[in-house]
Amino acid sequence: MFQIPRGTRDFTAEEMQKRKSIEEKMRKTFESYGYKEIQTPVFENLELFTAKSGQTIIDEIYAFTDKGDRKLALRPELTAPVIRFYIEKLQMQPKPLKLYYFGNCYRYDRPQKGRYREFKQAGCEIIGVNTPESIAELIAMAYNIIKNSGLKNTVLRIGNLNLLSFIFKRLNIAKEKQEYITPLIDKSLFDDLYEALTDYKISPKDVSDFIDFLQTDDIEKIKNYIKEYKESSDEIQNFEKTINFLKNSFKVTNFKIDMSIVRGLDYYSGIVFEIEAPVLGAEKQLCGGGEYQLIPLFGGRETPTAGFAIGFDRTILALEQEKHEFPKYKTDAYIIPYNKDMIEKSIKIAEELRKQGLIVDIDLMRRGISKALKYANSINTKKTIIVAPDEIKEDAVTVKDMKTGEQQKIKINEIKKEFLG
Ligand code: HAM
Repeated sequence: MFQIPRGTRDFTAEEMQKRKSIEEKMRKTFESYGYKEIQTPVFENLELFTAKSGQTIIDEIYAFTDKGDRKLALRPELTAPVIRFYIEKLQMQPKPLKLYYFGNCYRYDRPQKGRYREFKQAGCEIIGVNTPESIAELIAMAYNIIKNSGLKNTVLRIGNLNLLSFIFKRLNIAKEKQEYITPLIDKSLFDDLYEALTDYKISPKDVSDFIDFLQTDDIEKIKNYIKEYKESSDEIQNFEKTINFLKNSFKVTNFKIDMSIVRGLDYYSGIVFEIEAPVLGAEKQLCGGGEYQLIPLFGGRETPTAGFAIGFDRTILALEQEKHEFPKYKTDAYIIPYNKDMIEKSIKIAEELRKQGLIVDIDLMRRGISKALKYANSINTKKTIIVAPDEIKEDAVTVKDMKTGEQQKIKINEIKKEFLG
């Protein structure tokens, strides 16, 4: 017997119905903001992912060599592929470019609930603009995609990596030291952070002030802390404007400013944000994104970029946890030929109703009426149509309402009316 590879999943028809219904809602929200869908390949040249992150990323992804000795990788995410696509083919298009995508991603993660080796992302990139209103719109859209999918409890947090960089520079925290302390910031291990920073010979007062900055969600306190950093004045002003647009114009008020967001991937700069679903426990991060820079590294003409990706599988898990009512597969009509002679007539009726846009199934197994009715029930049929010789003589069929059990003789040319109202 063969087994499914570790960290991958099969989806039943019922699960696919749930996933399709949520994907449709997400797509609608993306498009309501003027985003257009694109697609890129599942595998790319490995270099696309090592260019920014270095060779260490190879441990975390599916990298392989093909028969032509090309080094390739299954994409772990879609931002680098979309930027590659943009530089190759889309640079001349009018700005801003608003691109969205759904796609499977592959990471050599340790599988657990909500963490898979094959998972799906719903994401987007906006290219060519970074005004405060454009970033506010991006964050509002991420928030609304999740809200419109039906999820009730989410936590949106917004930070700024440029402000963090200014502080690192001022406090003389060099790159290798940053690499050590950012995971501590990410995990809110502030005692360990205090120890590490004082070890780097930063004064206890400066360290405490910095940790307060990381923990406050009060924009005034943040502004006050940052005000002596003259070089950061544009950044903080833009940050505040973005927050104000989000609150006052997009009416997204349910968020927290959180300067401890560091994001895992290496390409971010400027405003970053994350959305969590607390019902999910350990793997609660639903969405991550922000402003980033990849275009110059990939050889394109510099222009601002931002985006986000939502973990599609985690969204479904969170909705299930919240007991969300997903639509179920249903059949409008199930047609049962009474005997072999009735098959041809039954198919004709089925095809006619399908042309009208109804979901119609027919007994293909030549079962008896009672077994066929039982099956019709199991596939969530609204009405069955029994095609039998006596009625056919009168150009009629028997229509049974599966909910009430009520049966009616209906003329064939009136069936459409019966189903379409
Ligand atoms: P990311 O935070 O690495 O960002 O992934 C986005 C989302 O994908 C996560 O918040 C999570 O919900 C989901 N995810 C990540 N790994 C797994 C996994 N192993 N199993 C299930 N779900 C997972 C990015 O990928 C960026 N490209 C987002 C972005 C777009 N930034 C700018 N533009």
